[in-house]
Amino acid sequence: MDYILALDQGTTSSRAILFDRAGRVAALAQQEFRQHFPQPGWVEHDAQEIWVSQLAVARECIRKMAVTQAGHTQAALNIVAIGITNQRETTVLWDRQTGRPMAPAIVWQDRRTAARCDQLRARGHAKRIQQKTGLVLDAYFSGTKLEWLLDHVPGARARAERGELAFGTIDSWLIWNLTGGRVHATDASNASRTLLFNLRTLQWDDELLALLHVPRSVLPQVLPSSGVLGETEAALFGAPIRIAGVAGDQQAATFGQACFAPGMAKNTYGTGCFMLMNTGTAAVPSRNQLLTTVGWQGPAGAAGDQARHHRQATAYSTAYCLEGSVFMAGATIQWLRDGLQMIASADEVEALAASVPDTGDVYLVPAFAGLGAPDWDGHARGTLIGMTRGTTRAHIARAALESIALQVADMFGAMARDAGFALKELRVDGGACRNNLLMQMQADFLGVPVVRPQVTETTALGAAYLAGLATGFWSGADEITAQWAVERRFEPAVADALRSAKLARWRQAVARSRAWAP
Ligand code: G3P
Repeated sequence: MDYILALDQGTTSSRAILFDRAGRVAALAQQEFRQHFPQPGWVEHDAQEIWVSQLAVARECIRKMAVTQAGHTQAALNIVAIGITNQRETTVLWDRQTGRPMAPAIVWQDRRTAARCDQLRARGHAKRIQQKTGLVLDAYFSGTKLEWLLDHVPGARARAERGELAFGTIDSWLIWNLTGGRVHATDASNASRTLLFNLRTLQWDDELLALLHVPRSVLPQVLPSSGVLGETEAALFGAPIRIAGVAGDQQAATFGQACFAPGMAKNTYGTGCFMLMNTGTAAVPSRNQLLTTVGWQGPAGAAGDQARHHRQATAYSTAYCLEGSVFMAGATIQWLRDGLQMIASADEVEALAASVPDTGDVYLVPAFAGLGAPDWDGHARGTLIGMTRGTTRAHIARAALESIALQVADMFGAMARDAGFALKELRVDGGACRNNLLMQMQADFLGVPVVRPQVTETTALGAAYLAGLATGFWSGADEITAQWAVERRFEPAVADALRSAKLARWRQAVARSRAWAP
């Protein structure tokens, strides 16, 4: 039996999934790893622990499959290729000689460079950065994190200038380790999250490198998201396996949701919430505080282009997306569980929230790491407002769930304004999309149907598709489109006036959370 192995390295866990030719999950393994919060606003990962956990789950997944296929040995499993997808922006700097990280990885949620971003903004750089990269100048992205590492790790800058260090987002870090240090590469979807990558030339940009004091010698090579870029070290899995797909997790999920036509959008409910809409082969600038980002560089026809009609002439096309990024979604529920210890497991939140008919006008603005789209306020902080003596933990749990759906509604509005047309529906995926109450709230707050597919592991599936298309495992975008199937549609069930009133009240709460951090 032939499979594609997807490695999905997320913010809180490393996962590995084997997909069969029908795009179904054949085996899955997952491991959580540690989160470090050394100072308020700082979030770090141990890059070594990420690699070790990712390798462990990949091996476990292969072992599970071998056991399932009774009578077959592990060697009889044919893993055609590996696809990698990853938490984006998280920044690793390592020694090319030893392969050791120079410092803890700075996670995308980390706010330590917010003041540096303010400074760059005050000096008038925000507009030019946005024009070139499609990004809002914010500490979320890798550029200022890398600059921080080069400036604060003793000796790093001098060593980087001598070509001794390598920078990468988690995809590059995994590729480096999987190939035994032979390949230092990333793909355009991940590169487009660094503040260093020019969206139009699809190259690292010298002006941006100079602005953020990043020497070119640390940068990975940028390769297509779908294409063989190397092989794994033979010792890792018994035999070398081709690595043939790479994309940031949100772009991979968009691919896995078969959003190949311009105007198609998905939202993933993970640690954060990320809504991406395919804009085709055009990088559309946002007028509403969204991001313009590379979706993927993939096979012709998967970018919403016409290239499928002249496949010979166009081997690859670049799909662009508009993106709304919300930093706290599932992480808000984790906070109820770990921070407030209000629930014992995340699954309990649905029943608790459903035990009250509404929040009693309580709002939770989960700006624990500042606010992303569309407010982009690195200095906003978490706010719980509207409590009375009648407020119970059920109201707070419900407000927490609503906060996820309300943030998504804000992004959805911005997306429609940028697109110039109303989106007809939203495809959803990610862990929290299993929560039916949340999905119904989402449809109610958006005013359009929310559509949940049968396979909700779309992030990993997208990475598998990218790898499988490059190796002939799947034939093209049409085959993927045919595999995508609806599991459930949630129809909006509230009147427009009620929806508008709710969104307006939420905006009042958001305003209270702004500019709070010292
Ligand atoms: O941009 C950050 C994003 O890639 C993280 O995704 O799934 O780990 O929450 P996730």
